[in-house]
This record gives sequence, structure tokens and C-alpha cells, in this order.
Amino acid sequence: MAGRVTGPTDVSLVEAPVTFKAYLMCAFAAFGGIFFGYDSGYINGVMAMDYFIETFEGLDPVTTPPEDFVIPSWKKSLITSILSAGTFFGALIAGDLADWFGRRTTIITGCGVFIVGVVLQTASTGLGLIVAGRLIAGFGVGFVSAIIILYMSEIAPRKVRGAIVSGYQFCITVGLMLASCVDYGTENRTDSGSYRIPIALQMLWALILAVGLFLLPESPRYFVKKGRLEKAAAVLSRVRGQPVDSEYIRQELAEIVANNEYELQVTPQGGYFNSWFNCFRGNLFSPNSNVRRTVLGTSLQMMQQWTGVNFVFYFGTTFFKTLGTIDDPFLISMITTIVNVFSTPVSFWAIERVGRRPLLLWGALGMVICQFIVAIVGVTDGQNPKAVSAMISFICIYIFFFASTWGPGAWVVIGEIFPLPIRSRGVALSTASNWLWNCIIAVITPYMVDKERGNLGAKVFFIWGSLCACCFVYTYFLIPETKGLTLEQVDKMMEETTPRTSSKWKPHTTFAAEMGLTEKAAEGGMVEKAEESVVEVAKQDV
Ligand code: BGC
Repeated sequence: MAGRVTGPTDVSLVEAPVTFKAYLMCAFAAFGGIFFGYDSGYINGVMAMDYFIETFEGLDPVTTPPEDFVIPSWKKSLITSILSAGTFFGALIAGDLADWFGRRTTIITGCGVFIVGVVLQTASTGLGLIVAGRLIAGFGVGFVSAIIILYMSEIAPRKVRGAIVSGYQFCITVGLMLASCVDYGTENRTDSGSYRIPIALQMLWALILAVGLFLLPESPRYFVKKGRLEKAAAVLSRVRGQPVDSEYIRQELAEIVANNEYELQVTPQGGYFNSWFNCFRGNLFSPNSNVRRTVLGTSLQMMQQWTGVNFVFYFGTTFFKTLGTIDDPFLISMITTIVNVFSTPVSFWAIERVGRRPLLLWGALGMVICQFIVAIVGVTDGQNPKAVSAMISFICIYIFFFASTWGPGAWVVIGEIFPLPIRSRGVALSTASNWLWNCIIAVITPYMVDKERGNLGAKVFFIWGSLCACCFVYTYFLIPETKGLTLEQVDKMMEETTPRTSSKWKPHTTFAAEMGLTEKAAEGGMVEKAEESVVEVAKQDV
């Protein structure tokens, strides 16, 4: 890299203590996860509800034989996957909106779009409207799911950034569980409330998030990107709970500004398409090139879907029904979502203590073992009630491994690996990849497992197990350790290490020092100027 100063300089970045307010702000932003989880989860139970099948298939419950009282595979797959299709496009567009109008505005807009989609779904009594409603709601979820990660990673203090982004995953799991509980509560109703209640309830989550976000500040890194340093400093001062002219705020701002300047220098600027093209610039084999990071983020999210977790959450109820000896498949489905919720907090501690890389490695290993056990028990003794109980137990242990590792880990890492000039697009592309694969899996799964199609039954776990083995190898070779570093240090670490040596890397210089920003500041340069205007802005509170 031309012009880089690589010798050690002063790296003692002072960091503000993490305040309760900082936690509270991030915890609130994590709330966005609830409707991601709820919206993707409610459909699992709804499609197995008698009243829903009767209405949407136009069947007479008295004269239709039980084996015909089902939704055909193609419809199940369309209804389930159309949400992820909408979300895919929503997430892609959201990256641009977040750079143009701000992270916060994009999330609030996402909530509005989502509500429109939910209204259509609630009103639906046939395929057309529910599909249109899920497509539109998907756009909203795309906005929110891509930009919340960006927003949280950008405002969270570095020491707890992983834990805080894991909080988002925790909310996803709570959303899934709530959806499953509400489905369980309404499934026996003999009126349209059976499916309309679970659908309509989602508006509440969107309203709470949108109203709450009005009260939160915009991301300081967005303001830096826009060149509005005084605003950036004022927001930093607010989220760190420190005076705007304190050493904490000065240093953090200087580092963000310097990193952005550096990245702008090494990344060619130009029009709209050029800025998209920047995400794919560089050499794929160089660990810090933009293209490498984009491929890393998108493939990590793809691998997260390949773990097969959504097979359990989207099709669990239908799968448990096929095991024959289970009395209440809805209950088992609900239990898997409860295990998911209660296992996620393990990651709050582990992700900061153990690190991202070991967590993903151990998680993949645990999932491989569980899935192969489920598959082997299923094919050897699948109809024996004791074997079925063992299968369900191992599915729950598998969920434990997912929830405490890959669930949060994939989101944490994509929030950290992109430099500021391409961060919003990089995170958006990665999130879009999550939804694309989510969609592909939702489309093909019914064809793989349904009796009248592939009829794989429990054998499908051989596929998920093998894919989890790929996740292990993938992590070993490609995932760097980002624990404990500022986003700007992550940028440097990726430049100077390979994934396998990354955990030993220690910061040895700052961008501010390299860009000469500290000297400029001393001479009354950028940071100093920012500070002058900051006092004014801080008074108005951002
Ligand atoms: C995944 C979702 C999944 C959920 C389960 C998320 O991290 O992206 O697809 O449904 O975890 O908790």
C-alpha cells in the first residue's frame, strides 16, 4: 500500500468507560431482531393450521380426507420463500439509503414499509395477497436487518461490540419463539383469528422500533462519512457519555476520521456505479482487499444458512408431524425455539472472551456431531418412540450450538470486517446473501423432504451435517479474529495478518498518527476545528 507508515507509533488509544446508557441504546436497537425472527417464524405454524389450510385451499373440512388436507409443496415453498426474496432486495437497496439518508432514517423507513406488508397479509384470504404482503414486508425486514447491524456495530464500544450485536441475534430468537408461542395459542381457533392474530401482531414490533429510533442518535461514522465532524463528535459524546472535548472523544473521532481518509485515498472515488464497484476491487487472495471482505461477508452468511437451522424453524412442525409418533408437533417446534432463546446469551460472554474464530469453529463441530447422530438414528430406528425422543434431544443440542455460536457470530463478524467507505454496502450485501440463501433453502426444502417429493425424512440431516463440516473448514481457513479491536484496528489487522495468525495481532499504530492527523490537530487542523463547532451542536443535543 503506497504511503503507509508501518513502524510502531503511539497506540495507547484511551477508551471511554462503557456506560449504562450505551448499553441501553444498543439494547434498544437490537429490538429490530424481534421482527426479523417473528416474521420468519410465524409462517411455520400458520401453514400447518387447519383453518388456514381450509381457507387458502378452499377445502371442506368435513368431506376432505385428512391426507388431502395439506398445502401443496409449491405453495408452501412460495409463501415461505417470498419473504426472503423481498428481504434480499430490501437489504441491497438499504445499503445505499443508509449512506444517503443515514442509518437511523433507513431503519425507520423499513418499519413503515414492513407495516404496509403486514396489513396486506392480515387482510388476505388467498394466495395472491399473502404473497404480495410477504414480499413487501420482506423489503422492510431487509432494510432493518441490514442496517441495524451496521448501526449497532458503529455505535457500540469496541469491548462489548460482539456482545451487543449478539443481543440482536438474541432478539431474533425471541421473535421466533414469540411467533411459535402465538401460533400455538391460536392454532385451534376455528375462525380467521387463528392466522390473522399471529400476522397482525407484528405491527407492534415495528411501531416500537420506529418510535424508539426517533429517540436514538444517528451513527457518528455516518457523519464522518458525510464530512460533518461536529455532528460526529457530538454523537460520540452522547453515546459514550463523555464531554465533547474530552480526550476519549478527541481520540476516537481522530481515529475514525483518519481511517476514513486513508480508505478514501486507497479507494478510487467516482460515480454511483463506481462506488458499488469498490466493494469488488482488489485481489481476492489478498486478505485486506475489498473484494476479499465482500466475499467473506457474503459467504459467511451463506454458510450460516447452510447450517440448516431454518429447516428446524421453518419446517420443523411439518417435519415432526412426519415422525408419526409425536402427539404435538407444535409443542416440539415451540421447544426448539425456547432452546434457541436460552442458548443465545452464552454467546454474550463467549464472543468477547473466547473470540469470534474459536466460537465459530467449536460451534460448527458441535453441529456436525449432533446432525449426524439425528440422521443415523433416524434412518436406523426412525419410528421407535425412544429413537424419536433421542432425535429431538439432539436437534435441541444442535440448536444450542447454533444459537451460542454461528447465530450471533455471523452477524458480529459482518459488522466488523468492512472499512467505512464500503461498510454500508458490504454489510447490506452480506445480509442480502443471508436472505438469498434463506430463500433458496426455503424453496428447495419442501421438495427434499415432503413425502410425495424427495421424501428424504431424517436423511436430510446428513446433508445439513455435511454442510456444517464445510462451515468448520471454512472458518479455519478464512475467518479472522476481530475481538477487542476498534473497527479501524480491524481494518489494519486484516491488512497485516492472515486469518490463522490474526488472533495474535496487536495494534501497533493508529490511523490518526499515520495520517498525521494528530499533528494537524495540534496545529489547529481537522479535529480542532471540529471541536470548535461541536460545543455549539452538543448544546442542542443531536
Ligand atoms: C439466522 C436466521 C435464523 C435465526 C435463528 C439467524 O441468525 O440468520 O436465518 O432463523 O438465526 O435463530
